Amino acid sequence: REELVVLGIETSCDDTAAAVVRGNGEILGQIVSSQADLLSRYGGVAPKMAEEAHSLVIDQVVQQALDASNLTGEDLSAVAVTIGPGLSLCLRVGVTKARRVAGRFNLPIIGVHHMEAHALVARLVDSDLQFPFLALLISGGHNLLILARDVGHYVQLGTTIDDAIGEAYDKTARWLGLNISKGGGPALEELAREGDSDSVKFKIPMRQYKDCNFSYAGLKTQVRLAIESRSACVDNNPISSASFQDRKSRADIAASFQRVAVLHLEERCERAIQWAKEMEPSINCLVVSGGVASNQYIRSRLSYVVERKRIRLVCPPPKLCTDNGVMVAWTGIEHFLLGRFDQPPPAREPEDYV
Ligand code: KG4
Ligand code: ZN
Repeated sequence: REELVVLGIETSCDDTAAAVVRGNGEILGQIVSSQADLLSRYGGVAPKMAEEAHSLVIDQVVQQALDASNLTGEDLSAVAVTIGPGLSLCLRVGVTKARRVAGRFNLPIIGVHHMEAHALVARLVDSDLQFPFLALLISGGHNLLILARDVGHYVQLGTTIDDAIGEAYDKTARWLGLNISKGGGPALEELAREGDSDSVKFKIPMRQYKDCNFSYAGLKTQVRLAIESRSACVDNNPISSASFQDRKSRADIAASFQRVAVLHLEERCERAIQWAKEMEPSINCLVVSGGVASNQYIRSRLSYVVERKRIRLVCPPPKLCTDNGVMVAWTGIEHFLLGRFDQPPPAREPEDYV
């Protein structure tokens, strides 16, 4: 295992990331180049713009990951790359780069599912983590509860019927006028610390449905209306205006939103643990991963849930929860060890001849 050295490349959304990881889980080098700042100025991910931003930095990001590892392409055993889900224009930048590197050094290539990578990186972090385990994967585009039975063998227990929790955090942060140059989620989490989470009464989504699915669109609407009703007073009433501009009243909305958004996660996780135990009585671990899992409030609330259910919580460090190359390299390693990889592509791609 130690001899195996895999380069992982991730370009599915707004981060261009690469990392070099050894078969035993040692992280040799990792680089993330974020477009959050660029995108915050344009109100979201514009595919064409994101593609250009990836293309601009991909060579440099991969080179820096190799340099940080004190390695060259000659030292690699394989290249792993995210092939979906994500923006196809963006994915293509990573896949093209991976094929170039693999072709040049005659390396096998491993196509990786982005959400599988979020889940499996927990096994790099915690070498005691065995299958089966339950995973809550929370990011900007996905909200999943899965029972992981083995590498490549997953049962979906729940998904979102509309928006993911990260989308709700990002929109709320934007509507509250926060500085989202480092992402909406972290800005909202920070402001929520100063607020009273009981001050605005939002409704917990989907309580009447006794399943493990999620919904955040309704909560988003409730938050928007709460903000609008306060800013509506702004025009007629300067006192309300001042009070809404006031950090405390925005913090109250942030804290109230976060509390209900996370209560929804807690309820679904409790039920999913129950379901998972019925399917796999040996289940003893809940993995929580994906960008939103870097949130400290969520980590602490879910730690109470697992305590009540007498199972363990594994939550990768924030740097491995948000999009990164390590999780892709590691998932590549997990598949490679099971013989699941593609042969090296031709040394020169057809377009190289044009
Ligand atoms: O996994 P990820 O990096 O990219 C996707 O695959 O979508 O997740 C990004 C999402 C964004 O919505 C971002 O605002 C959210 O994760 N996020 C957070 C926090 N850090 C990142 N949400 C809440 N609290 C945080 N601390
Ligand atoms: Zn992600």
